Amino acid sequence: MGNLRDNPGALLCVVGARPNYMKMAPLLRAFRGRADLPPAVLVHTGQHYDPMLNDRLFDDLALPRPDINLEVGSGTHAVQTAEVMRRFEPVVDEHRPSCVVVVGDVNSTLACSLVAVKKAVPVAHVEAGLRSFDRAMPEEINRILTDQISDLLYTTERTAHDNLAREGIPAERIHFTGNVMIDSLLFHKDRAVPAAKTLDGAGKAGFGAERYGVVTLHRPSNVDEPEALRASLAILREVSERLPLVCALHPRTVARVEAFGFAELLQAGRIALLPPQGYLEMLGLMADATLVLTDSGGIQEETTALSVPCLTLRENTERPITVEQGTNTLVGRDRALILRLVDEIVATGGKRGRTPELWDGRAAERIAAHLAGWLAARTLPLHA
Ligand code: UD1
Repeated sequence: MGNLRDNPGALLCVVGARPNYMKMAPLLRAFRGRADLPPAVLVHTGQHYDPMLNDRLFDDLALPRPDINLEVGSGTHAVQTAEVMRRFEPVVDEHRPSCVVVVGDVNSTLACSLVAVKKAVPVAHVEAGLRSFDRAMPEEINRILTDQISDLLYTTERTAHDNLAREGIPAERIHFTGNVMIDSLLFHKDRAVPAAKTLDGAGKAGFGAERYGVVTLHRPSNVDEPEALRASLAILREVSERLPLVCALHPRTVARVEAFGFAELLQAGRIALLPPQGYLEMLGLMADATLVLTDSGGIQEETTALSVPCLTLRENTERPITVEQGTNTLVGRDRALILRLVDEIVATGGKRGRTPELWDGRAAERIAAHLAGWLAARTLPLHA
């Protein structure tokens, strides 16, 4: 067994898809800022590859280019997960890492954890313990399985501890360190691109000059079935009669809208269709919005941190603190409820919420400090 202090195997830090980047950026900064941690190597699986879902976000977040790119691309869940595993294994063999650090709940998170654990490499999972209790969501499967095989589980809210304890995870593996996604938000907030500039740049000058809502929609449950997508788009159209809407659409959604022939449902005077936005543009659009309508996980947290009301087009959330303490309300595809809440928010401003515990911009520092101590303790001889 090598001694970590003589030969510290790298920290292999994994990202795969858009929501990973804002979580990994502050972690990488914190890891590389500590002399008592091994070097951090950034591995990109290539799950997301579109410039607008990928390169642009790296620039905005000042995330260094990946040291290694596995270039797996799109595929079915089985193909994508298997391909990440196949290509990640030789990277682990070559680097003999002291730890593999994964974030969030995407296919790449689970795939790389599984490779590491089978090779007796410790796994640290950042954003552990979130549960929607909806196993039809691919992310829920990724969360449950990644947590089961992780050695270190860093959590963003206290409910995560109970979820993990219920699944038999020993308490000593669980560490409540706060929300790294909010680290990124607080770090970059002052550089957010003003909404007016983004809308001007997209040829929507003057659009929503007064007030507007922001929409993102990409979950399979909302966009993969024609009836679900038609219902979602019909609701958006009605909302737009009350409040102009800026929709930043994921490529997955654009593809479905075209395939199902629904483009005309989005052609309303008060709906501005935008491609996926950069991080700083999205921050600016959300910060100035009257409300946000979304099915994203991360945006539920970002709107809470920005104190902007969020209507989540899902039946459940793995982030209950955003409902209990933040600005989030679950609305599913309940047309009447959504229209009532939109009217209420337009009239009164809606939920303002408060900032949850440890969403203070320092989560990555706490994780880096804990990880350094944990790795050092592992390398001490038993009878030192
Ligand atoms: C993934 C994550 C989801 C996250 C979302 C954010 C999983 C299971 N899901 O979903 O948790 O909220 O990213 O964006 O990992 N596509 C492109 N360009 C790309 C990437 C994807 O056009 O760069 C299209 C392809 O048609 C692809 C589809 O989007 O088949 C789905 O992409 P995929 O990465 O499998 O899942 P997402 O839906 O993006």
